[in-house]
Amino acid sequence: MQINSAKKNNYYLGLMSGTSADGLDLALVTFDENNKLEHHASYYQAYSEQTADKITALYCADNNNPNNNEIDRAFELDVELAKLFANAINAFLVQEQLNGDDIIAIGSHGQTIRHRPRAKQPFTLQIGCCQTLATLTNIRVIGQFRRKDMALGGQGAPLVPAFHQTIFSESCDSDSDSAENSIHNSSDVFVVNIGGIANLTFLPATNKLDVIGYDTGTGNALMDDWFQLHNPDSKTNYDKNGDWAAVGKIDNNLLRQLLSDNYFQLTPPKSTGREYFHLSWLKKQLGNIKPISNQDVQATLTAFTAITIVNAIKQLSTNNTNITKVYLCGGGAHNHTLKSQINQQLQSESQSEENKYELLLTNQKGIDGDQLEAVAFAWLAFAYDKKLLSSMPAVTGASKSCTLGTVYLP
Ligand SMILES: Nc1ncnc2c1ncn2[C@@H]1O[C@H](COP(=O)(O)OP(=O)(O)OP(=O)(O)O)[C@@H](O)[C@H]1O
Ligand SMILES: [Mg+2]
Repeated sequence: MQINSAKKNNYYLGLMSGTSADGLDLALVTFDENNKLEHHASYYQAYSEQTADKITALYCADNNNPNNNEIDRAFELDVELAKLFANAINAFLVQEQLNGDDIIAIGSHGQTIRHRPRAKQPFTLQIGCCQTLATLTNIRVIGQFRRKDMALGGQGAPLVPAFHQTIFSESCDSDSDSAENSIHNSSDVFVVNIGGIANLTFLPATNKLDVIGYDTGTGNALMDDWFQLHNPDSKTNYDKNGDWAAVGKIDNNLLRQLLSDNYFQLTPPKSTGREYFHLSWLKKQLGNIKPISNQDVQATLTAFTAITIVNAIKQLSTNNTNITKVYLCGGGAHNHTLKSQINQQLQSESQSEENKYELLLTNQKGIDGDQLEAVAFAWLAFAYDKKLLSSMPAVTGASKSCTLGTVYLP
């Protein structure tokens, strides 16, 4: 995309590397004098199998292997990813005929390799060294967005609900500089991001209720892990469109077993990661039921993701008379089997009640669902510069709201 030269010098770049470890997303964004966002261009770079393996090998500590040298592997990857991010940004700038001076700042999420909000000393770790990135690109970087919220006693996740509110609320109180300003949707709105982990944001129609957001559980993570284990020769490392799951049958015993995990009994605020929902967790659950086919496991995992999302939506819906809108985004929105299970679950038991659900994609609201997270991190960098309160204590459980992020100069 060629960009009008009159518009140069005022871009923010959002950079996201999600828990699926599939690749990095970049979004080029501007904001007008009313803080209204415009998304100009995107860039995606898939990770090589080797890079993806280095990331995923750090998700789950192997306590039985004293030689696994996690600290060295993590911090070498910290620098390696920063270099990879910098190269991708330089390629993106060339593609868009821009240079570093056109970018006000990069908002970088980094790559989560460990998220332990319920540890004795809660912590979260995102790598992709912000200082290296700033120095190599010669662009200011705003990063480490989760840390201040955690320092304030919050989960540090999910971070996107404040951004969802700015995008999906039909009108906001423009006098307030807080992300938690009042909202006025004519119906309840849910935004569900299905990445490695799935998270939702609830924007209630009534402004008497807080925005709510939390991780509903696994998104694509377990489906990806199981698919890769049994389809090592596949061209994709995920169940494309959910075709493999579609030939399997949902196993109710396994489904009940998966749903009995404590995570689903926890009340929000809550967040999770791939150090929790991983292959060993799944194998443990499989050990508690009669053996079933690999496709049946995949079908059940797909249903599991759908049901945990829909249960959360149904628990939160306010029974208003309007149709509740559910917007999907993230890679899982491309999984037809998953999407149709979400729709089936939403429609079941709700046809005759006041609550009716309309399943949509964020693309229908003008935001590409594959880009939404990268755009959100451009917004978080902008919010940092404008000193906006970009966290949501009602979502994360922090003691107060704050401006998220830390700046790194070239
Ligand atoms: N056509 C498709 N069919 C099925 N699944 C798909 C398809 N395209 C993408 N996916 C799934 O989406 C995943 C990537 O999604 P995405 O990039 O949104 O997740 P992420 O990187 O984990 O982001 P985050 O966790 O930050 O939300 C892939 O690993 C795969 O599981
Ligand atoms: Mg991704």
